[in-house]
This record gives sequence, C-alpha cells and structure tokens, in this order.
Amino acid sequence: MVRAEQGWSEYWENEGAGGEVFVNARGEKHPALTEFWSGVFKSLPAGSRIIDIASGAGSIYGHLPTNHGFALSAADISAEALVTLESRIPGTTTIVCPADRIPVDDASFDLVVSQFGIEYAGRDAFAEAGRLVAPGGRLVVLAHVRGGYIDSRNKAQLEEAQLVADLRFIDHCLELINAAYSGDATGMQEAEAAFVPVASEIDAGIGRCRQGVHTHLLVGFRQLFERRNRYEKADITGWLEGMRGEVNRAVARLSHMRTAAMSAEDIGVIRDHLEKAGLDEVAIDQFRTPGNAQAVAWRIMASRPL
Ligand SMILES: C[S@@+](CC[C@H](N)C(=O)[O-])C[C@H]1O[C@@H](n2cnc3c(N)ncnc32)[C@H](O)[C@@H]1O
Repeated sequence: MVRAEQGWSEYWENEGAGGEVFVNARGEKHPALTEFWSGVFKSLPAGSRIIDIASGAGSIYGHLPTNHGFALSAADISAEALVTLESRIPGTTTIVCPADRIPVDDASFDLVVSQFGIEYAGRDAFAEAGRLVAPGGRLVVLAHVRGGYIDSRNKAQLEEAQLVADLRFIDHCLELINAAYSGDATGMQEAEAAFVPVASEIDAGIGRCRQGVHTHLLVGFRQLFERRNRYEKADITGWLEGMRGEVNRAVARLSHMRTAAMSAEDIGVIRDHLEKAGLDEVAIDQFRTPGNAQAVAWRIMASRPL
C-alpha cells in the first residue's frame, strides 16, 4: 500500500492544490471553510501560539489574516508536506511526527487546530491534541464524518476504482492493444470479445459516479485506441501501466480516508479523550455547507480552563 508519508503530493494528488481537501478543481478553498477559519483566528491576540496538527501543506494557515503576529507551528507525518508549507507560510516551525506523538511540552499552545488531519492517526490522537492546549486556550478541529459528504463521495469512487482492479480492466486494454498492433484478425476478435463486456461495466460505473480514476482510464483509453494510428504501441502500453499505478494509489488513498472518517460512536470516544485531557466546554456537531444535505465535517471545539 502507498503510504501517506512517502510521495505525499502524489498520494494526495486528487485532493486539489497542495493535497488539500474540499477545494475545487482550480484549488480554491470552499468559502464555508474560509468563513469558518477566519472566524476562529479573528479574536486571537497577536503573539498567540498556534499549532496545526496533520497540517499537510498548510491549508488552514491559508486563512490567516495578514499581519497576524501569531507564532505558528505545524506538525505532519510527511516531511514533504511540511517543506511545501514552509515555502507557503515562511516562519512556521515545522515538526515531522505522527499526530499521536508530538514532541512538545504539555500546554504549549493557545490554539490547537486540525482540518481533516488528526483522525488519520487514530482516535487516541485527540488525547495528544488536548494535552497541547494551554490554560485559557482552545482546540478547534474539522474532521471527516463517516457517511458524510466527503466519505460518501470517497465510497463511490473507491467502489469504481476497485471494480477496475477486480475486473482486470487494464489487462484487457493491454490485450486489445497487443492484438491491434500485431495485425492478427482472430486475436483481435478474441480480445475485443473479452474487452467489450468489461468496458461496459466500467461505463455503468461512470453512470453511477462520474468523478474518479475509472472515468479518466476508460475515456482516455477509448481516445488512444481510436487514434492509435498516431501513436507507437509503447506510448499506449506505457500510459496504461501508469494508469495501473494511479488505480492502486486511488484505492489506497480512498480506503485510508474512509478509515479515518469518524462515526457518532467514535465521537463519544473523542469527547472522553478531550475531557480526560482536562478540557471543558467540549462541543461537537456537524459542519454543513449551503446546498449540501450531507455533513462535510465534525466540528469539534473545546477549551482548557484558566
Ligand atoms: C487529507 S490531508 C489534510 C491536510 C490538511 N490538514 C488540509 O486540510 O489540507 C491529511 C494529512 O494528514 C497527514 N497524516 C496522515 N497520517 C498522519 C499521522 N499518523 N500523523 C500525522 N499526520 C498524518 C498526511 O500527511 C496529510 O498531510
């Protein structure tokens, strides 16, 4: 399985610019996220110490006000993500570490934040996040919801990517290409007979879920096949082998995101962790955006008394 800490940007490639979640195809953050994080930062005095856990390339800090004067830290398991973050938000102290073992003292931060991040390190990582909150400080987290908007989209895309792998669709494409370039008419007929029903199953998948690696593969292959007289055989087989890697990465990434997504039961565990860490005013609800019936995130907030 491809792991998030290796080849970070490649791993998160379908999540928009810099591996961010909930951005559009142009890499623009959803306005609801901008409004939410701007609100969190608004009342914070200059000099406040902030840490973003599982920060990736710094999506949350993309919402900071100008001339904020905060002391920023970011922790992520991926060194590659943090190098990108440093280039986008110079002056940030970066810490390469797992989110459930952050090498800083207790109560070091006035604000602890995370967006679609901490939950990748398991439910216990919330105890670690709580440990870092200073007296009078706050914890503010947006986390993946099991069965929510992002998780449902991931589930649909994962099923189609898995279908591509289970039906060995890329092998069928390769057999068709080999037969087409060999000039063997009987071989071509056989390859086509095997290809057509499998391709129609992938087509049906595009009907169920338009976005995803399965669509890119089928649409791309059809174009290459139709225009094959313009290409060398190796161009097409090379593209198909590249797509095999993309399918495997999509299955790994989407499965990983689905495992991170938290149910209502998980939320009970997290509440316990935060309370045991000495935080109070623990408030957890679902974060929704206009026009979306499904929740986008769990909104988890808590504070440590003075
Ligand atoms: C979906 S990305 C979100 C990144 C960023 N917070 C954002 O909103 O764009 C998840 C991030 O969690 C990091 N991650 C995954 N597992 C982790 C772990 N066990 N400890 C720390 N970070 C982890 C990944 O490297 C990745 O940057």
